[in-house]
Amino acid sequence: MRPIELTPRLLALARQVPEGARFADVGTDHARLPVWLLERGIIQNAIASDLREGPLEQARETARRHALTERLSFRLGDGLTPIRGEEADVCAIAGMGGETIAAILAACPWAATPGHTFLLQPMTSVEELRAWLWRNGFRITREELVGEGRTIYVVITVIPGAMVPLTPAEEWAGRQYRGMESPLRAEYLARLCGRMAGMVEGLRRSTRPEDLEKLPRLEEALAGLNELKEEWDRWQQ
Ligand SMILES: C[S@@+](CC[C@H](N)C(=O)[O-])C[C@H]1O[C@@H](n2cnc3c(N)ncnc32)[C@H](O)[C@@H]1O
Repeated sequence: MRPIELTPRLLALARQVPEGARFADVGTDHARLPVWLLERGIIQNAIASDLREGPLEQARETARRHALTERLSFRLGDGLTPIRGEEADVCAIAGMGGETIAAILAACPWAATPGHTFLLQPMTSVEELRAWLWRNGFRITREELVGEGRTIYVVITVIPGAMVPLTPAEEWAGRQYRGMESPLRAEYLARLCGRMAGMVEGLRRSTRPEDLEKLPRLEEALAGLNELKEEWDRWQQ
């Protein structure tokens, strides 16, 4: 059996796992990520967990095909509940909605204790996840944008600890700083500005009170996003 290959999204996550980490993959599905890390000798053992038996069976099947069954511990359960804090120092939670990822961290009593790093890859509601993280004792230490097809994914590295609060625009786009290496950021910001402008336009046309209530915060975020984009473009000159 040839070693497993990863697409850019999962590869970006895999590259953030340090050698010798006690690694857990939450929502593992086919267990591609832990199998890639085990086959390259980056980690010696891993926990592969999933909420549902079907995906966990897929994970067992991948492990069988790659002769790694003995080095993976398969756990059935919601989020981090099947994992004890002392068993993992690096946990990936990838390929789920941002609200689900936030709910998984919120439900885990040891997630906010020192010594744990989380590699998060939300598929949706990234702004809700960032907002939840800084308000709930997690510090974003790194963000990476990854292109796969037409989609730009974000991989967020998080540790327990306080961070300087994000502005509404930073909740949408992540924090930027001069000298930051991010080849996809200009495109990411342009897409966010376009999407947000469409949302603001839609709300301005609406007569529903709940839409009008949302409008000022989104207008503030849009103004901030345009400033972030201008700042980023200036830095690239
Ligand atoms: C789209 S797959 C992502 C698989 C892999 N992590 C990736 O990024 O390619 C999402 C997986 O997360 C699992 N999942 C969803 N909610 C979960 C939860 N609360 N706890 C654990 N696993 C969950 C699903 O069963 C599914 O197998």
